[in-house]
Amino acid sequence: MRMGVIGVGRIGAYHAGLLQGTVGVDEVVVTDANAELVNRVAAELDVATAPDVGTLLDRVDAVVIAAATSAHAELIEATMARGVPTFCEKPISLDLESTKRVVEIVHRAEVPLQMGFQRRFDPGYRNAAALAADGSLGQIYVIRMAGHDPAPPHESYIPQSGGIFRDFSVHDFDALRFVTGQEVEEVYADGSVIAFDVFAKYGDVDTAVATLRLADGSLGILSVTRHDPLGYDIRMEVFGSKDSIAVGWDDHIPLHSVEPGVAPPPGPAYANFQERFRSAYEAELAYFVDVAAGRSPSPCTADDALEALRIAIAADRSRAEHRPVRVAEIV
Ligand SMILES: NC(=O)c1ccc[n+]([C@@H]2O[C@H](COP(=O)([O-])OP(=O)(O)OC[C@H]3O[C@@H](n4cnc5c(N)ncnc54)[C@H](O)[C@@H]3O)[C@@H](O)[C@H]2O)c1
Repeated sequence: MRMGVIGVGRIGAYHAGLLQGTVGVDEVVVTDANAELVNRVAAELDVATAPDVGTLLDRVDAVVIAAATSAHAELIEATMARGVPTFCEKPISLDLESTKRVVEIVHRAEVPLQMGFQRRFDPGYRNAAALAADGSLGQIYVIRMAGHDPAPPHESYIPQSGGIFRDFSVHDFDALRFVTGQEVEEVYADGSVIAFDVFAKYGDVDTAVATLRLADGSLGILSVTRHDPLGYDIRMEVFGSKDSIAVGWDDHIPLHSVEPGVAPPPGPAYANFQERFRSAYEAELAYFVDVAAGRSPSPCTADDALEALRIAIAADRSRAEHRPVRVAEIV
């Protein structure tokens, strides 16, 4: 299979590198709005280039969209119009209207689209989902999630990120739906600028929390920070009537006990998402080869992306208006 990659910035170049080792991918062709960047990445990875998106789509059997978020909706429209099976990095768009429009287009096109919520392919999250589904956890009471970045992004990223919930926590919201199989019905969120004043300039925060009420009455709790001096901390704990489990509690956990005699984790902590989720990125791309070949349905659809965005928008509204917001309000 010839695989195109549109956008070879941070994640696109990473995906292009992984695709070279993906079973079933015979050729990788890359393009980017930045010609100098695409030539540099292509030379480093030893992959082919296309001068623009149209030329690339003529040459490939399937495509990975890893361009900047603002380009996703238009690019998905283009790939659907040409019938090219598509993997797209999250999100479809930061706004509800254009996300809904793309969902309609994808439904009408009946061309496979897989969204890049890689935690669905992380072994820990997959084990948690399997234990929730087979009843091993019993009735779930509480799901506790942490999403802590080691360091805040560059200032230029903040105004186009969509804010902490749409940019970062959207992964936790998707993982919550994936693991529990439940929909989120209501969100109450709060946030603060504690350490990095630059976030206030754009109406964003560096620290946030959310509580989430799920359809069966179980409750989620999320903490989010843009700074964690110990490393990249992504965790989920699920407490049920039969068992309590933790995702992300491994030798690299950036958290240490202060109980006497308890050894610190051997570490080192993961530095970033590429280190923490490497196997998940590999697995989601390997799966996409099957999706593109028509052997498997999409494991993460445009509708899933829309649902995670609705939860993030509810969290934004809750923080802004200081009240619980029902996800049903976000239509
Ligand atoms: N799943 C994850 O864990 C994860 C992690 C990082 C980023 N992302 C997502 O991946 C996307 C890219 O993020 P990034 O950090 O790599 O950004 P980046 O800024 O490093 O790279 C984006 C690239 O897209 C190119 N581009 C923009 N518009 C284009 C267009 N119309 N056609 C071709 N190329 C175009 C830019 O020139 C740039 O090189 C974002 O949507 C982001 O949300 C997902």
